[in-house]
Amino acid sequence: MIELIDRLAEEHSLSISEYQYLIEHRNQEAAEYAASRARSVSQSIYGKDIFVRGIIEFSNICRNDCYYCGIRKSNDKVRRYALTPEQILQCAEDGYSYGFRTIVLQSGEEGSPAYIDGLCQTVRSIKERHPDVAITLSVGELERDDYEKLYQAGADRYLLRHETADPDLYRKLHPKELSLEHRMNCLRELRSIGYDVGAGFMVGSPWQTARDLAEDLKFIETFKPEMCGIGPFIPHRDTPLRDFPAGGLDLTLFLLSLIRLAVPDILLPATTALGTIDPEGREKGVLAGANVIMPNLSPVDVRRQYELYNDKICMGDESAQCRTCVDMRMFSIGYRVVIDRGDIRRRTKRDGRGVGLANPGSASNTSRTAEEGAVDA
Ligand code: 5AD
Ligand code: FES
Repeated sequence: MIELIDRLAEEHSLSISEYQYLIEHRNQEAAEYAASRARSVSQSIYGKDIFVRGIIEFSNICRNDCYYCGIRKSNDKVRRYALTPEQILQCAEDGYSYGFRTIVLQSGEEGSPAYIDGLCQTVRSIKERHPDVAITLSVGELERDDYEKLYQAGADRYLLRHETADPDLYRKLHPKELSLEHRMNCLRELRSIGYDVGAGFMVGSPWQTARDLAEDLKFIETFKPEMCGIGPFIPHRDTPLRDFPAGGLDLTLFLLSLIRLAVPDILLPATTALGTIDPEGREKGVLAGANVIMPNLSPVDVRRQYELYNDKICMGDESAQCRTCVDMRMFSIGYRVVIDRGDIRRRTKRDGRGVGLANPGSASNTSRTAEEGAVDA
């Protein structure tokens, strides 16, 4: 175990089977060792600075029906909302005044022409007022044209979790209209347009095996996204997966450490889902190698309508409260939240980039080619 962790820390690569071995045989000693190496790697690049991103959940209208998600279109218990442009701008203004220099605009997936035009306008307005703010979008699978329009409007980064790198598991978690192949193509398109991209996956989702997670690690290692969001699966009462257990804290922390060792400069959030399954989940995430926190900037009266999973934290807390809360939490473990765009500090040129673009192979190739040592999915 220790030997594999050392090798990962030195070479930033393991085979899928080696990742699987680590996941299956992890114990407390290995987890502590991986966390301490991951912390030093993170500190060698980012010091004890924690980057914050203010998330505005501006609409819960969604055309997708992912089996795990609380705002899936079949959930008719959700009251659908879309903030007006003025409301979104007000949240962004508030965020700026609290020191956020990255604003994340997140919504369900919609993608209509009116939606795209409105979003472009909002991005432009935020950038006009605050050219020093980075804008991250998290709005799902769109047409390449739309990704380009949004980039031209000023968006800098895009979060699109791949959810799982295993095509079979992907099919079990999603209706047939959605495919891993299409999602991976979106990630490649986003990158080729110029966005900094964020991939990511759920930990402990129904039917997931150690092998599946090993494939996720291999994908992250080879694709080298600028960001990677991982958090435990948490059941939502009004979804088909309501009776499955939540993913585990320790496994999520261990995976955070391995991701930090595989891609040292990656921006790695300690996610809200992690904070939901453990009251100190986000602090533990940072101590396992994470360096980003994403507090909620949405108006309090819509937060309940954006419940992706049960018992999501911060439902009643004003944005200002969340901001202070996060400051204090980070201070309590010897870290500090900084006022900064929080761009990636890429230490080495991303060697996988060219191959990935030249070879948009199907997602089902991911594990096979990765195992063979190809640098991209
Ligand atoms: N549990 C944990 N994470 C979830 N997400 C959606 N539903 C759940 C759930 N039940 C995550 C997905 C999605 C992100 C916005 O939220 O990974 O990409
Ligand atoms: Fe929202 Fe702590 S981050 S209250």
